[in-house]
Amino acid sequence: MHLVIFLFGVFIAAVILPPGSCIQTVIGLYGETIEVPCNNGNNKPDGLIFTKWKYVKDDGTPGDLLVKQVQKDDAIMSATDGYKNRVSIATNSSLLITQGSLTDQRIFTCLVVSLTNLDEYPVEVKVYKKPSAPVIKNKAKELENGKLMKLGDCMVESVNPAADLIWMKNNQPLVDDGKTIIITSTVTKDPSTGLSSTSSNLQYTARKDDVTSQFTCTAKHVSGPNHVSAPEIFQIHYPTEKVSLQVVSQSPIREGDNVTLKCQGDGNPPPTSFNFNIKGQKVTVRNKDAYTLTGITRVDSGVYKCSLLDNEEMESTQIITVSFLDVSLIPTGKVLKKFGESLVVSLEKNASTEAKVTWTKDNHKLDKLANFSQLTYADAGLYVCDVSIEGIRRSLSFELTVEGGPRILSLTKHRSNDGKNKVLTCEADGSPKPDVQWSVNGTDNEMSYVNGKATYKLTVVPSKNLTVTCHVTNKLGDDTKEISVFSLFKEETSNPEKNEDGAEQAKLIVGVVVGLFLATALVGLIYWLYIKKSRQGSWKTGEKEMGTSEESKKLEENNHKADV
Ligand SMILES: *[C@@H]1O[C@H](CO)[C@@H](O)[C@H](O)[C@H]1NC(C)=O
Ligand SMILES: *[C@@H]1O[C@H](CO)[C@@H](O)[C@H](O)[C@H]1NC(C)=O
Ligand SMILES: *[C@@H]1O[C@H](CO)[C@@H](O)[C@H](O)[C@H]1NC(C)=O
Repeated sequence: MHLVIFLFGVFIAAVILPPGSCIQTVIGLYGETIEVPCNNGNNKPDGLIFTKWKYVKDDGTPGDLLVKQVQKDDAIMSATDGYKNRVSIATNSSLLITQGSLTDQRIFTCLVVSLTNLDEYPVEVKVYKKPSAPVIKNKAKELENGKLMKLGDCMVESVNPAADLIWMKNNQPLVDDGKTIIITSTVTKDPSTGLSSTSSNLQYTARKDDVTSQFTCTAKHVSGPNHVSAPEIFQIHYPTEKVSLQVVSQSPIREGDNVTLKCQGDGNPPPTSFNFNIKGQKVTVRNKDAYTLTGITRVDSGVYKCSLLDNEEMESTQIITVSFLDVSLIPTGKVLKKFGESLVVSLEKNASTEAKVTWTKDNHKLDKLANFSQLTYADAGLYVCDVSIEGIRRSLSFELTVEGGPRILSLTKHRSNDGKNKVLTCEADGSPKPDVQWSVNGTDNEMSYVNGKATYKLTVVPSKNLTVTCHVTNKLGDDTKEISVFSLFKEETSNPEKNEDGAEQAKLIVGVVVGLFLATALVGLIYWLYIKKSRQGSWKTGEKEMGTSEESKKLEENNHKADV
């Protein structure tokens, strides 16, 4: 029935209204002055008599508002109701309604009457009230992972027409899926102002990663740009699913180190109290996640665990291995031994892993330690043994001294390079360093002492045949040897003996070889001489050198022949 009346009205309007003038709509703002234009300002025809604004009351009866006659300055107010004090007319004939409210949402008609015409311009007024930013209320304190929970209510109040609210997570709209996200919106109207308030309730199933999610609520309104609430973030609670035990220490762990066990659970909020299992013994710590083992020792090696106070099943295990290295060396310190004695060195080691051993003697690396079954002077020295495993190193040492009375090893003589002197060389071993005494005076005394072996040299100018004694002593004994030294003058004139010792023989080894060649030829000569019984003994030396063998004497003889 109403539809019929409406359609009829549209039909009448279409007939009455001038072509092209369909109903204009203006939007006013709530609480502000609404301007209702009259034919967009084109309302002053020739012969204009008056302009009148009228409206249709709520009960459908017509109501006059005011009339403006062309001759008069002031409009005549004809309104009797609430509009009486709120309406006026502008010079361009617009109707001005102060303090716009929702009751002003109706059709106002401007009537322009001239001498020749009567025009009506109806204008529909709509009154908007813009929303302010929505607010999230009744927020959840925290959300639980995987559980559908009320997150909060979004509210926007006193709006016209009603605003739409959209929940957003990280600026992406949330859509009600009836299961993990449920959004319920309600719109209520204030009975006195007619303004609408919208409330939207969000039920949300949080996940762990929502701990960083920002939730906002956006109000959409026909009047313009969206309004967004302040963002909210929520704690997401979830139980611990994994416990992890950490061993905080340098690696490897050595005896004496402090080792801290740190226990963590991956729940939120994280667990704060734990049970530590210290090699089978339970220790509970509260409001703390660590347990420190101070001055750990090898017996502390073993299995360590931690678990949640309320769930012992939720545990984590670590194995701690404490590195250790025990080394003992026999002997250590200063070791005094006699020449020829034996020394047994024993190195014992007990370590958590295979230990590496290196020996040095007087800072020189040894491939292996000698077997000291018969000590010599050369064995004396500082022996250092380094034993190490990863992270631990021990160094032990002994200083070996080998003592013995002096022994003359050789006493030799040779002519000096310029032929004017004789150089005597006495070699002796012994420790401590032996002192030497020669039986003759000489010059250029030289002396060296290496590895228990002393070499003494004496340069003499023998004016006559001498027997020279080399006498060596130390606190443990002494030794003496003699050597005959011939007068240089005599030898040079009558006895041109060139080599008196092994050193010169060695130098003339080539001559020996040549001499051997010649010897064959000379044997014949000797034989011939022998046959002739005419001995020529001038070549034969009467000198008896101590320590010279019969063989080398013969060599000497041959050499002399070669030199002749
Ligand atoms: C009428 O005049 C007022 C100022 O008096 C002006 O703000 C308004 O825009 C005018 N309206 C039209 C339709 O010209
Ligand atoms: C060696 O010289 C010293 C003085 O320089 C003298 O007293 C001593 O008798 C000399 N010895 C020999 C063996 O010639
Ligand atoms: C040295 O000894 C040699 C051999 O015994 C002898 O021929 C010589 O005459 C001696 N010289 C002196 C100065 O006594």
